[in-house]
Amino acid sequence: MPRNASIDPTILVIYGAGGDLTWRKLVPALFNLRQDRHLPERFAVIGVARKALDDAAFRARLKDGVDRFSRRGKADGAAWDAFARDLYYVPGDLTDPAGGAGLERKLAEIEGAWGGRANRVYYLAVPPSVMEPAAAALTRLGVCRDCSRDRIVVEKPFGRDLASARALNASLSGMFAESQIYRIDHYLGKETVQNILAFRFANSLFEPVWNRRYIDHVQVTVAETVGVGDRGEFYDNAGALRDVGQNHLLQVLCLMAMEPPISFAADEVRNKMVDVLRAVRPIHRDEVHRVAVRGQYRGGTVLGEQVPGYREEKRVAPDSATETFAAFKLNIENWRWQGVPFYLRTGKRLKAKVSEVSVIFRSPPLQLFPSAAVEGWQPNRITLRIQPEEGIGARIQAKQPGVRLLLGAVDMQFRYREAFKASVPEAYETLLLDAIRGDATLFMRADQVECAWTVISPILEAWESVPPADFPDYAAGSWGPESSELLIAREGHRWLRPETEGNPG
Ligand code: BG6
Repeated sequence: MPRNASIDPTILVIYGAGGDLTWRKLVPALFNLRQDRHLPERFAVIGVARKALDDAAFRARLKDGVDRFSRRGKADGAAWDAFARDLYYVPGDLTDPAGGAGLERKLAEIEGAWGGRANRVYYLAVPPSVMEPAAAALTRLGVCRDCSRDRIVVEKPFGRDLASARALNASLSGMFAESQIYRIDHYLGKETVQNILAFRFANSLFEPVWNRRYIDHVQVTVAETVGVGDRGEFYDNAGALRDVGQNHLLQVLCLMAMEPPISFAADEVRNKMVDVLRAVRPIHRDEVHRVAVRGQYRGGTVLGEQVPGYREEKRVAPDSATETFAAFKLNIENWRWQGVPFYLRTGKRLKAKVSEVSVIFRSPPLQLFPSAAVEGWQPNRITLRIQPEEGIGARIQAKQPGVRLLLGAVDMQFRYREAFKASVPEAYETLLLDAIRGDATLFMRADQVECAWTVISPILEAWESVPPADFPDYAAGSWGPESSELLIAREGHRWLRPETEGNPG
């Protein structure tokens, strides 16, 4: 099968290859990239983890992951065999001085067979506590020295607050050039998240109204029906604001609110994204209770199934004060957005799994129609649905058919699946290919991560200093706590209900 000859030979080293991420996401994504002929002609994966496995057992586990999780379903036997020949496993702990020898040998063996030095991408799929030691081990081994060929990919969470993110950035920048560091936020790899840029900057229709003159407010929702599953220990130390608010919600905010970049070069786009975060009005500690709310789920029914409360989940403290829901309001103080509230919310065990952004427009300057005609009047809105059922919808007013003048709201919808009749690649396919190609546009720069922590730090600090009085405060299967409705109602707004009002529904 022909492969992509335009990319230099590449070895992807996955450190922490025994974990779920490699099994569920990374290797299914790589296999799809191979099927779509995007990978370089010479491409190999070296999995490194502590467990004693051989290549055959490693490949068998990865095949199982592809069969279960690939968007294409079960792997074709011959295609898998051809792909699996380039998957290797090296047991060992890189942070142990003896542990790197196996990796060095394998790199030398593959590059020897290829007849030259390959590009090397080191994917650190390890817990936050191991990130820095793992990076230090690569530096010590000297296997990631070539600034133009070698990169490291760093998984989230990137720090647990501003101070730790700064410390990690400082430490990584002592070991690698910034251009070698790829901080991943998988939301940026989602097709519809990237489509926000196409929607805004490839059409002349929307940009003229994309500002405070026409837009009343913006709502960003990342809602999940799942609980914390097996990640109780991690999650109980993180909470919804750190886990999703600091990264996915703010990334979407940046793309919605940024100024047009002068080109799509990585730093041009990233500069404009950082500008949004820098323009967010800092939240004063005393106003946190007015602009941010948190919640925690109790037992309830989600998608027809009875589920336990958060405090009953595995490896969660029975009196946990960790939030599983967070909603907050931000103001962007620049010419475009001054006075337009951005409401963001995320939570686990909510009524529906949906990620979307809705832009709600102002009323027309003059209401021409008699009041009887506009009884059911609704403002215009545009909803960009990130998942599921990726697409874009616009709600407009139209005259209802009939002899009387009555207006009604109608939706115009575009659904990816129907419009392009193609299956949408997984976020990790896009991001892995970008890391392999050396395109950092969709990865976070050090300053971007730090700015994002700066934005949410006052909320984190205020919440940490005052334990919640009323947890658990929302039923699993609802849209979160009552306080979330009050947060937005205070300014005369209300959260849209994505399951009934989302476009495209
Ligand atoms: C991850 C969070 O970053 O994003 C998880 O750690 C969350 O808690 C996940 O479930 C949501 O991603 P997606 O792609 O399922 O929307």
